[in-house]
Amino acid sequence: MSRAPIRKVVFPVGGLGTRFLPATKSMPKEMLPVVDKPLIHYAFEEARAAGIEQFIFVTGRNKHGIEDHFDHVYELQSHLSTKNKRRELELTSDWLPSPGNVSFTRQQEPLGLGHAVWCARHLIGDEPFAVILADDMVQSKTPCLKQMVNAYHEVGGNIVAVMDIPRSETKSYGIVDIDKSARTRDKRLVKAKGLVEKPAPDEAPSTLSIIGRYILQPEIFDILGRQERGAIGEIQLTDAISTMIGKQNVYGYRFEGTRYDCGGLVGFVAANVAWALGRKDIHDKMLDELKRIPALDTRMSGMYKKPGQRYSAGME
Ligand code: G1P
Repeated sequence: MSRAPIRKVVFPVGGLGTRFLPATKSMPKEMLPVVDKPLIHYAFEEARAAGIEQFIFVTGRNKHGIEDHFDHVYELQSHLSTKNKRRELELTSDWLPSPGNVSFTRQQEPLGLGHAVWCARHLIGDEPFAVILADDMVQSKTPCLKQMVNAYHEVGGNIVAVMDIPRSETKSYGIVDIDKSARTRDKRLVKAKGLVEKPAPDEAPSTLSIIGRYILQPEIFDILGRQERGAIGEIQLTDAISTMIGKQNVYGYRFEGTRYDCGGLVGFVAANVAWALGRKDIHDKMLDELKRIPALDTRMSGMYKKPGQRYSAGME
C-alpha cells in the first residue's frame, strides 16, 4: 500500500549535555566525536539513508557548532584545495545537504522532548515525519530508521523504535504497554495500547522501551500544543503519542542492531570502541591497542582494581 513518504526529520539538539562536562562547556554534546564524526553526523547519515530530504534541527543556546558543521568552511576548503588534499576536502563538504534543505529553529525553554518536537511544527507542516535522538546510536546492517521506514510502508500510522531493557531501568525510558491481542505480519512490530514515560519498575507495563527513533503523524502537533506536563514536569513526546492511540495506530518496532546510549559516558565510550572496530581501516590496530590496555588483560585482572585503587604489592 502506498503511504505518504517520510521526507523530513527532526533532530532535537537543545540539551545541555551536563553529563559530559567539562567537554561540553563550550561545545554542543551532539558534536562529540565517535571515532572521527560527531554524534549528530551519524544521525544525519542515518536519516539520509532512510530517504529523508529535509533536516530540521531544534537547537538551543551554544549550539552554533552544529550549524557550522552543516555549512561550508571556506578557509579550510581553500587551504585543502591549494594543497590538493582531495580526500580531506571531500570530508568537509561532499556530504552537505542541498542548500535550503537544512533548517534550524530554537527551543527557547527546556520544557521537554515533546516541546522540542512541537517547536518544529511549522517546518514539518501536514505530513508524516521522523525524529532521531542523536544520543541513541544503533549499529546495524540496515540503518535503524530505514528499517522503520520499510515497516511504515507496510502498516502506516506511528512507529517508535523499541528494545527490551532490564526492568530495573524502566525509569529512564518510555515504556510500551503491548496490545497482545493484536496480530502483526511483521514479527518485529508490536501494537501499542499505551505508552508510559519513565515508570517505576514495579509500575512499568512491560520492559519494552522506546529508543530515540520515531515516525509520527502530524496530528501529534495538536496534542503537543496542549502543553500538558508529564513525567519530571516536562512536555513528554511519549505522552502525546500515547494520546493518539485509539484514533491512530501506534507500533513498536524491534529493530535489528545494537544500541549504544551515548547520552551517558559508558555508552559513549563503548560506541567509540564499537565503531572503531567496525572500521576496516583501523580494526586490526584498534584490537591490538585494546589488547595492550593492562586493565583488559585477563592475566592481570586479579591484580587490577578499580580506578583510584592501588596495584597489589608486587606490581608497583
Ligand atoms: C527520551 C524519551 C524516552 C526514550 C529515551 C530514549 O528520554 O523521553 O521516552 O525512551 O529518550 O533514549 P531521555 O533520554 O531524554 O530522558
